[in-house]
Amino acid sequence: MTAASHNSRIKFMIPESITKLFRAKPKSRICLGLDIGSRIVKIVELTEDGDVLRLSKVGAAEIIGKNKDNIVTAIKKASAEANIIPKAPLVNGIPKTFGAKVAVGVSGQSVIVRYIRLPKMAEEDLRASLKYEAAKHIPFDMNEVEFDFQILDNTASDTNMMEVLLVAVKKDLIGQRLELLKACDLEPAVIDVDSFAVTNAFEHSIGSVFKKKNNVISLVNIGERRTNISILDNGISRLTRDVNIAGGDYSRAISEDLGIDAKKAEETKKEKKMSKETIDAIKHITGNLANEIRMSFDYYETQVPDKNVSTIYLSGGGSQISLIGDIMCEEIGVETHTWNATDNLKISGDAAEKTEKLYPVLPVAIGLALRGIK
Ligand SMILES: Nc1ncnc2c1ncn2[C@@H]1O[C@H](COP(=O)(O)OP(=O)(O)OP(=O)(O)O)[C@@H](O)[C@H]1O
Ligand SMILES: [Mg+2]
Repeated sequence: MTAASHNSRIKFMIPESITKLFRAKPKSRICLGLDIGSRIVKIVELTEDGDVLRLSKVGAAEIIGKNKDNIVTAIKKASAEANIIPKAPLVNGIPKTFGAKVAVGVSGQSVIVRYIRLPKMAEEDLRASLKYEAAKHIPFDMNEVEFDFQILDNTASDTNMMEVLLVAVKKDLIGQRLELLKACDLEPAVIDVDSFAVTNAFEHSIGSVFKKKNNVISLVNIGERRTNISILDNGISRLTRDVNIAGGDYSRAISEDLGIDAKKAEETKKEKKMSKETIDAIKHITGNLANEIRMSFDYYETQVPDKNVSTIYLSGGGSQISLIGDIMCEEIGVETHTWNATDNLKISGDAAEKTEKLYPVLPVAIGLALRGIK
């Protein structure tokens, strides 16, 4: 299956918080969010019951190995754990989980997010000239990417300029995602960017933070291979960046410094009370990550001089590393909190127990499913 054959059906969706959405929303009342991480596959099912949004199913599985089959195995394992049956059995000729679609995420170097300033113009005019505009900002051949945009802030009357969020994703990466879904009998509905999914989940969980006047916050989602950093000003996305420092670097440093194998290093990293030698082995990684985050803040703050990031909200598997929030707070000089993406969801009995352990790694999957259901 090539990506091109799906181009007309798959569209990026930019989070609700950022948008008055510019595309028709999928109408499904059940949506699956599938987060194919570098280490852990997470899948959730959200069900809309009247006004209530329910986290009805949750599953996760580690990817053992590096090739496509290993990822397919993990997706199937996570789906089975969640009790999600990809090809739903027909009941009177109608699939039992009618309307269930999968929203899937992308992140990393094949995803480019840019914030550009352009003279104010109508959305349709912008759409017409977008390829030309985008080519100036996207470091790839425009034929190799799918791209989309959102006008961010067109309200200031004292300027003739408007700010536009531009998203481009390499077709290769989209093609890989679609092939994985096909191999697992899952049907794609939406492709979203991981950090936008985190934003969506955050908004649904503790969106009141966005409403505080002049509140600039940062969402930092620390995974295995990369950390997604976003800056949001009153819920409007102002910076999105992925950096390649994350949980895997901690395990490797522990393994090298302490002379232990990868499995033992992984366990050591998860200890709540670390030994001094473990702390010493990983100190520089938190330092490097804090530097990248500080640089992102500096970049934003020099562009908007009267604004400062007030709080960092941490998520992702790596956010559970002992004392990481305290150390970052010290290094960056900004308070840090963790948050729970399931907070504003009703959780079905089945999912409750799993969610208690898994919630730090669920923001992307939940944000993706929200995108599909809204
Ligand atoms: N209790 C814990 N303490 C410390 N680290 C943990 C814990 N649980 C998981 N991790 C680490 O979190 C990382 C996985 O997190 P997550 O699932 O967010 O990443 P991913 O989505 O698979 O990767 P990526 O987003 O980089 O592609 C791994 O490095 C794992 O070792
Ligand atoms: Mg991830």
